[in-house]
Formats: sequence, C-alpha cells, structure tokens
Amino acid sequence: MQRDSLPTNAALMARRHAAVPRGVGQVHNIFIARGKNAEFWDVEGKRYIDFAGGIAVLNTGHCHPGVIDAVKAQLDLYTHTCFQVVAYEPYVELAERLNALAPGDFPKKTLFLSTGAEAVENAVKIARAHTGRPGVIAFTGGYHGRTVLTLGLTGKVAPYKVGFGPFPGEVFHALFPNALHGISVDDALQSVETILKNDIEATRVAAFIVEPVQGEGGFYVAPPAFVEGLKKIADRHGILLIADEVQTGAGRTGTWFACEQWPVAPDLITTAKSLAGGFPISGVVGRADVMDAPAPGGLGGTYAGSPIGCAAALAVLKAFEEEQLLARSRAVGAKLTEALKALAGRHAAIGDVRGLGAMVACELFEPGTHQPDAELTRRVVAEAAKRGLILLSCGSYGNVIRILVPLTADDALLDEGLRILADSFAALR
Ligand SMILES: Cc1ncc(COP(=O)(O)O)c(C=O)c1O
Repeated sequence: MQRDSLPTNAALMARRHAAVPRGVGQVHNIFIARGKNAEFWDVEGKRYIDFAGGIAVLNTGHCHPGVIDAVKAQLDLYTHTCFQVVAYEPYVELAERLNALAPGDFPKKTLFLSTGAEAVENAVKIARAHTGRPGVIAFTGGYHGRTVLTLGLTGKVAPYKVGFGPFPGEVFHALFPNALHGISVDDALQSVETILKNDIEATRVAAFIVEPVQGEGGFYVAPPAFVEGLKKIADRHGILLIADEVQTGAGRTGTWFACEQWPVAPDLITTAKSLAGGFPISGVVGRADVMDAPAPGGLGGTYAGSPIGCAAALAVLKAFEEEQLLARSRAVGAKLTEALKALAGRHAAIGDVRGLGAMVACELFEPGTHQPDAELTRRVVAEAAKRGLILLSCGSYGNVIRILVPLTADDALLDEGLRILADSFAALR
C-alpha cells in the first residue's frame, strides 16, 4: 500500500472514537502501518521501537519470518475444522511439545483455547471437576482477564472490575507477597490461612491461582519461599496449584515457563500471549489425571486451538531453539536491569528495579518518599512515545514502567530504546 494513501493518526482516532466504545482503552494515539521484529511504523511513516510487544505477545517480534512462513503454509492447507469435529496433527504436536516442556515429574496433557482469560476459566473448570470443590483463592494485585470469572479472580478493581459485578462467588483474595510495599512472605501465607479460617473451609477449595511474576499488577516476582509455602498448604488440604503464565510464559522470564524456576511444580499452567508470536491461541497444561477430570464434551470451543495458532506456536518453538532465545531472554534481562539500575542512580524517582529474565520493570515514587508517582510514570511513557519508543505502565498504583521488548531485538536496538528512555527521564526532570 502507498503511504500517501494512508490517513493520519488523528483522522483514524476520530473515526475510532465515533465507531468504537470508549471502554476499549488505548495507551498511544497511534495506528500501525507495518511492523518488523522490534520496530514498527505508523500510518504517517514514523518509526517506533517497541518495548511493549503488544503486551507480552511478541517475544519473537513483529512478523517473525518463521512464524509468517508457517502460517502461510497452513493457510494453503486448511484454516478451520473445529478440533472437536475433525482433528488435526499440529494441535496434538503442540500439546506434546508443551507437555514435555512443563515442569513436574508426572504425565501431562494440554488443552488449547483462544485467549488467556479462556485458559484461566478452563483451568478453574478443570480444577473444580477434579476436586469436586468450588472455591478458588487468588491474590491481591493479580490479573487474570476480563471475563466475569477472571474479573472475579483479578485482584484490582479500577479500571477492570468497575460496573461489571456481581462476580462469581467462592473466590477469595489472599495477600501477594510484596516486600517493597511491606507484605512479607509470612504475611502472605498467613493471609491464606486466615481465609481458610474465616471465609471458606479448606475442604471446599479447589485451587490457588498465582502469577509467577504479577504482570498487570506491577512485575512483582513471587518469591520461591512463598510458592513453596503455598504448595505445602495446598498439599495439606488437597488443593491444586495453578500457575497463571499467560504473561510470564513463552520464554519471557529466561525459561519457557517461569515456574520452571519454582522449587515446586504447579498442577496446572495457563499459557497464551507470546505462545504463537502474535496469533491468538492459549492453553492449559497440567497433570494428566487432573486434566482428564472433565467428561468428554466438557472442554473445547469453536476456535479453540485453531490450526493457524498451532502452526504459529510450533514455529515459535522452532525459533526459540534455532535462535537460542531462552539464553537471549536472560541476556536481555541482564542488560535491561543494568541499564535501569544506572538510570535509577541518576533519577531519585526510580525507587526500585526488578524482574525475572527479560520481564523487567522500574517503579517510580515521589523522590525521597514511598508515594507512588503515577503522574510521572504517565509523562515518561508519553515523552518516550514522542521520541519514538513505545512503553507500557502497570501496577496497582500505575507507577511501574514495564519492558516487554521482543527477545529477537539486537543489542543496538535495545541500546537505542534505552537511550530514548533515559532522555525522556532527563527531559522531565
Ligand atoms: C496473567 C494473565 N492472565 C490472564 C490474562 C488474560 O489474557 P487475555 O487478555 O488473552 O484474555 C492476562 C492478560 O494480560 C494476564 O496477564
């Protein structure tokens, strides 16, 4: 398409506001024309470095050539049958691959769906079917999706839950450990025990659901001692442990699943986002005996595990092997962490730098205080965009800048993006 024939961002924003409800938020007033690896160009021809990756979806970058080739080849064969009607091999092969990758010394099975929220919904359904229990305990600050059940599990009200209740019953929130904000591992584990004492008896709880690193919640890492303690409580009461890896999975944290770095294996893992490099597919991977609890016909969906998504995901796995992207994830993480720590040394507003693998963030406070600075966070994100760097904020207080750059970005591009970030901070001093 000729660039001259494309409308401006402003013109498209006007059409968007007239045609699309305001509830669908938009961080940047930008319309993309094309993307390649960790860069994209908008409809006006301006180039951006992408440190957001479509919210953790582009670990292999925009339009990875291997992924695009695999999808094109799949398009020439068949695009849809509905796996429950007529099956296809790529679904089975992808299940086999994820079963082999998931931690835990037990047989595994995998179910595919379309979105992260759908994976979480199905993990809860499977846990309930296996245990015959209704209850679920999630954690403060956690994010699990926008459907009514997953909103119930989500531990942050605004903007996600406002006006959408009532949410399903038998869902409770324990404290997520957060040393920076005064919640120790002991406090968090004690809060689980408190729920089991005050709100629901342990024999009616099907599962705990926890993110290995809270994504929307602010990139707080679940400490190993917390996960170990949680699993002990779970085992004592026959409760299942679900790792919600929708954001942490697919190599973001330096291992394929973040929970490979846990001292214990979860019973069920949800996965989505970067699994298929920009194509919609999600899954639940788990203990075979648990996964087999729902009766035939109890699981599925019209588009669940689409052939396009399966072909794309298999190509993503191939790219990880061929380009050694797990090692790259760790290297990118080390580089980002070092750069953000150096920036924190120059800007008192940056009160913490943290992460796991290439899932890295910095948290902003009013200098010399513990007051979250959401306003400065918003201004840094906007300033960086003006200068050609796409960033995202997150966190319960909106004061965390998170980096989800494609792992396929080279060092020169990372350096260029980090320079823009530093210049944006400097410009707002
Ligand atoms: C940890 C986690 N779970 C679930 C979801 C929901 O995924 P989706 O937006 O694909 O429904 C997200 C999305 O950000 C997430 O980060």
